Amino acid sequence: MLNLFVCPVCQSPLLPNAKTWQCAGQNLNNQNPNLRQHSFDVAKQGYVNLLPVQHKHSKNPGDTDNAIKARQQFLAKGHYQGFRQSLLDFAKDSLTPIDDFCWLDIGCGEGYYSQKLFEQVFDFAQQNNLNNPTAIALDISKPVVTATAKALKNFTKNQVYSCVASASNVPILSGTVNVISTIFSPILPEEFYRLLAKDGFLLIGKPKANHLFELRQAIFDRVEAHDSQKFVEQLTPLFHLIKEQHCSYQIQLNATELADLLAMTPYAYRAKPEKIQALLSDCEQQGQMIFTVDFLMYLLKKVD
Ligand SMILES: C[S@@+](CC[C@H](N)C(=O)[O-])C[C@H]1O[C@@H](n2cnc3c(N)ncnc32)[C@H](O)[C@@H]1O
Ligand SMILES: [Zn+2]
Repeated sequence: MLNLFVCPVCQSPLLPNAKTWQCAGQNLNNQNPNLRQHSFDVAKQGYVNLLPVQHKHSKNPGDTDNAIKARQQFLAKGHYQGFRQSLLDFAKDSLTPIDDFCWLDIGCGEGYYSQKLFEQVFDFAQQNNLNNPTAIALDISKPVVTATAKALKNFTKNQVYSCVASASNVPILSGTVNVISTIFSPILPEEFYRLLAKDGFLLIGKPKANHLFELRQAIFDRVEAHDSQKFVEQLTPLFHLIKEQHCSYQIQLNATELADLLAMTPYAYRAKPEKIQALLSDCEQQGQMIFTVDFLMYLLKKVD
């Protein structure tokens, strides 16, 4: 079995275990070797917190409980299922028939995409008789990862880990990850480059210019198009684009679903509360409203 994890405190190898993960430790002082080891308990929900306090920039980093609940409720209604299926098909090109294949989902949220992406990894490994595939779901928010671990608890026969950690400081050995996915989540080019093995892939899901434009038109005075091309340029010295694909369709939402959608996006903070209220009242009156979802998927490969 490959050693994948490193201790977030002392960077020595970190061994996963059912109850407590323990690092190999560092010698504090060469004259008087004094081994200090660090341990990380597996929470009863099944995740491990690898975010040292010194890496936390706020008390509760990542999404709030409110956003988490809203996203779970919204996703459970199936409005993004069409996108998830497109993403799964799109991702197939990144599956490589090698032993020790490792998939890392960054900013995994409650595991709505991780769950299906990981299933695809393990199915592929089984069909190709590959040894020791691993999938890791990572998010900076502890309440989010608590929900991820719950969503991923059925993978009992597979090597699946749910970790609280920061995307900018991932406690995983350099050059060991074969695919990094980041779906509506942070993109850290240098850190992802470090983590990826030779020929490793980066799978990105992003909103496109038209995404929810009816909603943005209703709550903002000026609607700015998402500039999805800019970040591909920022990635090009380290990654080259293999393919990109567009996925767009319309969804019908009632007022409750619309409220959840608003709470899970950053729009809720930026818009005036009275505009949000007016849109929700309109939706309530009409019973349903139609919105366009517009997504982009990118598959990039690590440059040698
Ligand atoms: C918009 S959500 C997307 C979640 C999930 N991929 C989905 O689409 O359902 C972004 C996620 O990134 C996480 N996040 C934000 N900053 C992060 C960071 N620096 N490191 C790891 N995760 C982060 C948030 O906690 C949140 O769960
Ligand atoms: Zn350590």
